[in-house]
Parts: sequence; C-alpha cells; structure tokens
Amino acid sequence: MQQAFWQDSGCCDTIPFVQTNYSLTQIYAPIGTVIDDAREVVHNVWRETLALTSTVNADTTARQAEGKLLRPALCLLAAGALGEPDLKRCARLAASYELIHIASLTHDDVVDHATLRRGQNSLNALWDDHAAILGGDYLVARALELLVEYDSGALIAAALGAMRRMAEGELRHFGQSPEEADEADCIALAESKTASLFAAACSAPALYFKPEQTQTLGDFGHNLGIAFQLVDDLLDLTQDAATLGKPACGDVTENKHTLPLYLLTHAMTRADREQLAAMRGNTLAEEEQRWIRGAIQQLEVDKETLRRAEQYINRALEALALLPESPCKESMTALAYFVLTRQA
Ligand code: IPE
Ligand code: IPE
Ligand code: MG
Ligand code: MG
Ligand code: MG
Repeated sequence: MQQAFWQDSGCCDTIPFVQTNYSLTQIYAPIGTVIDDAREVVHNVWRETLALTSTVNADTTARQAEGKLLRPALCLLAAGALGEPDLKRCARLAASYELIHIASLTHDDVVDHATLRRGQNSLNALWDDHAAILGGDYLVARALELLVEYDSGALIAAALGAMRRMAEGELRHFGQSPEEADEADCIALAESKTASLFAAACSAPALYFKPEQTQTLGDFGHNLGIAFQLVDDLLDLTQDAATLGKPACGDVTENKHTLPLYLLTHAMTRADREQLAAMRGNTLAEEEQRWIRGAIQQLEVDKETLRRAEQYINRALEALALLPESPCKESMTALAYFVLTRQA
C-alpha cells in the first residue's frame, strides 16, 4: 500500500469526534408519540402491501417496515422547529416520506440484486423482481394518497420533484463504468438519490404552513442527505451484513460509483487496484471484505470520507442556524452528528 494524497495534508486529524452521541430515541424525544403515530401508519400500509399477494404470511416480515424512520422524524422535527403547535396533524404527512423511502428501497433492492433489507428478506427475495417493482409502485401510490390529504399542490409537486430526481440520478449512471465516474459524479448521485428526499421531508412542513422557511429547511435536508449517503457508502465497505441488515460490500459486487470506492481506488497501488477491480461484480468472500476494510483503514479512506461528509453536515448546520432555538432544532443538530457517527 502507498500513502493517499490526503494523508500528507494533515486533514484527517480535523474531525471533531464526537460532539454529541445521542440515540435516536433521545433525538426523537421532542416529537413524542407522534413518530409512533407515523410508524403505525407506515406499518399498516406495509402489512396491506404484503397481504396483496398470497405468497407470504404478513406477520413474518412485519418488522421490515421498521428502519430508523429518519425521514418522518425529520419532517416532524422540522414542523416542531417551525413552531407547529399540533404535531399530530403532521403524522400522516411524515409517514408519506417514509413510504416514498420504502418504495425507493424496494426498487433499489431489485436494481442492486440485494436480498437482505433491514435484516430480513427484501421484497424481491420474498416475491420476485416483477412483483417487488409493482410493490414499490404501490407504495408510491399510497404515499401520494397520504400527501393528497393535505390539499397542497406545492407539497405534491415537491414530493414528485424528489422522486423524479431519485430516478434521474440512478438512470444517469446506468451503463457508466466506475472508472468513468469522478468525485463530482459520486456527490451528484448522493444528491439526487438521497438528498432530494431528505430535503423534501425537511421542507414539507414549511411548504405547508411557513413557505418563507422552505429554502432553509430544504438546504438543511439537502446537505444532511448528501452526508448521510456518503456515510452509507462507507459503511457498505466497513461493516458486516449482520450489523447493516443489508449486504456488506454490495457496492463492490454491484460495481457502484461511491465516494469511498473512488478514494480507495485512487489511493491504492496499481497491484492493489487491479486486485480490487477483479473483485468488482462478484460476491465477496469474508477474506476479501477484510482486505478491503484493512485497505480503507490503512489509507484512511474512512477518515477522508467522514471529513467530506462533515463538510456537508457543517453546511446543514449553517442552514439550521437561521431557525429560532427550540428542542426540535436541538434534535436536528443531534441528528446531524448522528449521521456522521452512526454504525448502521
Ligand atoms: C438507506 O436508508 C438507503 C439510503 C438512502 C442510503 P436508511 O439507512 O435511512 O434506511 P432505513 O430506513 O433505516 O432502513
Ligand atoms: C440508496 O442507495 C438508494 C435509495 C435512495 C433508495 P443504496 O443502494 O446505497 O442504498 P442501500 O445501501 O441499498 O440501503
Ligand atoms: Mg442498495
Ligand atoms: Mg442502490
Ligand atoms: Mg448503500
């Protein structure tokens, strides 16, 4: 192994680990039971989705509907930060962003040939690709039906804009080999496939009842979302499947363009680069995964990826600073640090 260019610059020492280390339960405290209301809405739609086919007992996979609930939580925290006195009226709004997210995961697992999601069979593994795509479409429709309840064209337009960008982002990279992608491509992909929905979820309450704050919350969500995807891309390479609840090193297997893979490739010796290239497109053995983890640590690709993610977190916090102080704003700050320090 050789040294990567950033190892000379001293920039890897600048990550201020860790300013806050709150659990999601603590972070979600200011939105109280309303996140449970949103979770319940999502669960019911998920159960109904599973019950549409006759292939599976819905109870065996009901837990699949439970992820970190970041997008509905962000929507509710943003509503609270804007001073919404009745958060309960935003529960179904918040749920709609989780459903759009789950729909995107459902499609993503087909695209990524992933059979594990949230520690369980993905929908394509449970059914098949064709049914899973329809399942994702169904979830999009259910999400939009929830949004329609709020009787706001602006809300629907923003959600559609996010979904459009999510698809555009993936399609733009379709057929492109990883060698053709540069750093800007990796960031652009994170922006379109992930940050767009984060921004929509965060800015939805503003669009609904405080339009003058739409840009601020959109900027917060956008930058948070980019950081979130960069960390996801890193965790893909550094964590095992049991921790992630989804395939480990799936981005190598699926030949994806991610920032840590780009940084890793460009920091490696030619021989190591060739070894990594030979792994692309294949399911990696434990030993190969360990080799990648070792290289990431040695070349400090982990620190460098986190340092880049931190730049977006700082931008998110700059946007957040424009809002008045409140417990919900504090939680949004804590969530920003959570994104940088999460392990799954
Ligand atoms: C996974 O998102 C997909 C990405 C955008 C990277 P999450 O990590 O938020 O997934 P869940 O909802 O917690 O399962
Ligand atoms: C996130 O990208 C895709 C979506 C926004 C749906 P990934 O492909 O990295 O997501 P995971 O890692 O499978 O959750
Ligand atoms: Mg995937
Ligand atoms: Mg993907
Ligand atoms: Mg990923």
